Amino acid sequence: MALAPDSRITSLDAVPADTTYLFTVRDDEGDRREAVLVRTEDGVRGWLNYCRHLLDVRLDKGDGAPMRDGELVCANHGAYFEADTGYCTFGPCDGATLEAVDTTVDDGDVYLTDEDYTFVESGPMDDGDDGPSNTSNVEF
Ligand code: FES
Repeated sequence: MALAPDSRITSLDAVPADTTYLFTVRDDEGDRREAVLVRTEDGVRGWLNYCRHLLDVRLDKGDGAPMRDGELVCANHGAYFEADTGYCTFGPCDGATLEAVDTTVDDGDVYLTDEDYTFVESGPMDDGDDGPSNTSNVEF
């Protein structure tokens, strides 16, 4: 399958080892959602950036989600999610699983390959405010 240039999220090198890389996608109904890339032992995984306890709570609030021993941590009530499976191992949503966003790595770049989403941009969702958007996580 050829990878469309506009589905490139970032370079693999830009995905940090100890936190998340935040980006914005559009779902098939046209709504914007936030997603994160996270390092795993064999590459990267993509997950929607929302806790499974309170579904509007973002794991990465703009400057990277906290991680402990290879697990994503929700800062709100301390849920832990395995980086490679999205499975919640501890916390109020114990047993739930993050919503996956399919990605692939090709020649040092990470691409969005999930047919339910299209890539919009790196960084947080533009909420329509007039103020400048948070530019953390922008590739440089
Ligand atoms: S909102 Fe994430 S653990 Fe409660």
